[in-house]
Amino acid sequence: MKFFLDTASIEQISKWKKFDLVHGVTTNPTLLSKESSDPVKVIKEICKIVNGDVSAQVTERNSKGMIEQAKFLRSIDKKKIVIKLPCTLDGIQAARFLSDKNYKINITLGFDPAQISTFKNINISYFSFIIGRVEDFGDSNISNIPLLKLMIKKLNPKIKFLAASIRNSSQLLSAATNGADVITVPPTTWDKIYKNKYTLDGEKSFMESWEQLPNDVRKKYEIKK
Ligand code: G3P
Repeated sequence: MKFFLDTASIEQISKWKKFDLVHGVTTNPTLLSKESSDPVKVIKEICKIVNGDVSAQVTERNSKGMIEQAKFLRSIDKKKIVIKLPCTLDGIQAARFLSDKNYKINITLGFDPAQISTFKNINISYFSFIIGRVEDFGDSNISNIPLLKLMIKKLNPKIKFLAASIRNSSQLLSAATNGADVITVPPTTWDKIYKNKYTLDGEKSFMESWEQLPNDVRKKYEIKK
């Protein structure tokens, strides 16, 4: 299993890389729009600092435009760029064309395991299955995770299940324990996970007890400053 970072922020990629949580990066137009720099420059910079796959999403609306844009985006870094296409009829047509040309494809905004049906003979690299965004609307996609896994196994086992839109640890764990090959996690979710209230409270209370000890006793245990 791999972790990708769902961001276009160079700062966040550099930060989380140090914790081995950036085996690749996924971007989308919203994430790119949050960066102040030119999006092409941002993607180039991401490719420079990330060792794995970098998803760059098309913004064209029809398959012809998507294919043209994909050619340009892929030229940024032939090895790392994965073309992210929407799971629409135009996106699927573009995926068929581009996968025949050996482009790496990430089909995104997958909400329904039945959407994988058309990919039996289209060799996409990743199918992004959206989890958190569904819960934003008071619904849940969790019970569909094992169904999608099974559909991929029966239909085209080469496709990697990419769990996306991860807002909390429970969504992350459901994806991980039900067979996601890759989980793309936004930096804010890692922040929440590693700023766990009980970890921080426990640490604070240990330090408070420690400070009750006389200074000279503590010093025997602590590093010399
Ligand atoms: O690929 C889609 C994913 O990046 C969406 O995430 O957080 O906008 O629901 P989010």
